[in-house]
Amino acid sequence: MTQIHALHTTEASLVLEHDADRGVVWRHCGLRVDPGDLPTAAEARGPASFAFDHDIGVPLVPPAGLGWFGPPAVEVRDARGLPVFFAPDGVAVAESEDALTVALSDTVAGLEWTGSFTTLSGGAIRSSAAIRNTGNAPVLLVGLASVQLPLATGFAQVVSWRGRHNAELDECTEPMPRQRWEKVGRRGISGHGGPPGLYVLAQDAGWQSGLTMAVQLEWSGDHSLAIERDDEGFWTLSAAATLALGEVVLAPGESHSAPAALLAISGNGRNAAMAQQHAAVRSMLRWPGGAMAPRPVHLNSWEACYFDHDAARIEALAQAAAGIGIERFVLDDGWFAGRRHDRAGLGDWTPDAVTYPDGLAPLAQRIEAMGMEFGLWVEPEMINPDSDLYRAHPNWALALPDRERPTARHQLVLDMRREEVRDYLFDRLDSVLSSAPIAYLKWDHNRDHAPSGGAAQVRGTYALLERLRAAYPNVEIEGCAGGGGRSDAGLVPYVHRFWTSDNIDAVARVAMQRSFLAFLPPEIMGSHVGASPAHATGRTQALAFRAAIACMGHLGVELDPASLSDEDRTELARWIEFYKRWRGLLHGREVHLGEGTDGLRWQAQGTAQRKLLFCIRTALPQDRRPQPLPLHFAASYPRWNVSLLEVAEQRGHGLPRAAQFDRMASGPVRYTGSWLAQAGLPMPIQKAESVAIFLLEAAE
Ligand code: GLA
Repeated sequence: MTQIHALHTTEASLVLEHDADRGVVWRHCGLRVDPGDLPTAAEARGPASFAFDHDIGVPLVPPAGLGWFGPPAVEVRDARGLPVFFAPDGVAVAESEDALTVALSDTVAGLEWTGSFTTLSGGAIRSSAAIRNTGNAPVLLVGLASVQLPLATGFAQVVSWRGRHNAELDECTEPMPRQRWEKVGRRGISGHGGPPGLYVLAQDAGWQSGLTMAVQLEWSGDHSLAIERDDEGFWTLSAAATLALGEVVLAPGESHSAPAALLAISGNGRNAAMAQQHAAVRSMLRWPGGAMAPRPVHLNSWEACYFDHDAARIEALAQAAAGIGIERFVLDDGWFAGRRHDRAGLGDWTPDAVTYPDGLAPLAQRIEAMGMEFGLWVEPEMINPDSDLYRAHPNWALALPDRERPTARHQLVLDMRREEVRDYLFDRLDSVLSSAPIAYLKWDHNRDHAPSGGAAQVRGTYALLERLRAAYPNVEIEGCAGGGGRSDAGLVPYVHRFWTSDNIDAVARVAMQRSFLAFLPPEIMGSHVGASPAHATGRTQALAFRAAIACMGHLGVELDPASLSDEDRTELARWIEFYKRWRGLLHGREVHLGEGTDGLRWQAQGTAQRKLLFCIRTALPQDRRPQPLPLHFAASYPRWNVSLLEVAEQRGHGLPRAAQFDRMASGPVRYTGSWLAQAGLPMPIQKAESVAIFLLEAAE
């Protein structure tokens, strides 16, 4: 008997077929369909020249070596290193409204694969996979895909991201491959190219229309994302956390679970797929108290004073911060024993005895008394050879026997696979956190892994974070890795924010922040107002422009407010007020991205009826008059009230503007939804490096 099993979201369907002969095969993975009385795969697939007599279709978990020539989804070897072929002979499928669960057993190999697809609120699908050794000898697991599926033939482009420290998240669009396309991470962290994920787009897909699929792994380490063209004429997409060879040996009865993959499929373009990813990630965030509190404005000490500080300097910085409306003060690197520069101290997590003779409590209490939360920088997974910890436990660093230990930023990586290492770190962090009112940790990670600690290293870090979260459920954590070297859904259950990049230059941040939003929502995107000239690029930008760009994420300040002119300081305080007023609309809501004419990029954040619209220009417009900006989302309501809240630009030398903008700046102007969607919202003339911010409110 052939059975069809389907899982539907509002926009997508996964359709599998189970028959006694072929097992479980794919019939569809794409936009929503009604399978109806579908002819079976056996009927539907005609003969092909040079093909096998026994056609196996496109199996859910293909039997590599037995007629499947695409990438393997499961790779196992026996004790001698010879391949163990996985060709299931037993199948169980369970289907419910919101999940499809499949168990495939192979009595010859002694393996059982279980996997599921679960719909999530917001429209994404979570895919999981696990393998169990049901035989009686140990086996070596070489690879296990979190998801592997055939791609609908309409796809034309693959979008991925690459990056480095200070230049994260560079978007790359390439045509779908004729052979194989692969993005591989081998640095031990997800990397400065962002989450292990990709988008695939149909030829005509854009921000708000067209077939789009987005996949990201809930994983923070080595990975492979591949799209391979099969001779049959379709592509196979696979996403897997990479295992170090030899690290997963399954004894009889043991199993291994791959990290889950989040799958978003939409016919409404990148914004709709992004919304599905945001909803999935939001459902994984574990906020203190169960719900996100308004995201407090940070002041982070790093670029304000780097290592050049003591208790008095930090207190003065905190005073200046409190004076402009900062709500959370984060003491960055340099507070602990031996840490006057980046060559020593990592591992020795006790406050410096000279700077903080009575520990951090007096400082933390004074900061609390100023009306701010106190946060602290740590980098637990690292160790400087010049540290007491290394002198006591040189064998705690990741290293190969008889090999050089390559340092980066003068540091080595701790072996997080070792329980005693995790216990030590927990004890140190526990002692710091319990010694003072510390509400927040910035958890850094400032190098690649060499040698690799494999997937177990990543899981070791998760285990430590989990233990810490359980012990301190009210402490929020920021994930950081030399800026954005490890911002991914794997860390999302443990953190509440990511530090997007050490590059705070507002022009550089425009593209970077838009790329961040491809997989992760704005309320967890750390975005700061930095100094001008920007430390990473040397470019000078107006304070208002820097502030407007930073307001789109979780706002912070990374400079000494006392170093600003009175005018800039007042302006910064005003932008902090602006952010506080609007953060309820900016966070936890819809995000729409798009492009206008002549280099204009726009971003709208808010509810269906109320949105802030940021119209961003980084370069000087070429056109004499800016062209109106069609806003597709406006079509859902008959009328909108539109106000111009801000034009964030360099002060002075104002540009002439049409009378309607003065009217919009002093009160709302009414437009019909169809006008805004089709003819477009008029745009003011803007300078280079400026942001015009509108409020759009649906009206009766
Ligand atoms: C990394 C982080 C910075 C800062 C420094 C401190 O580079 O990205 O924000 O915390 O480390 O050493």
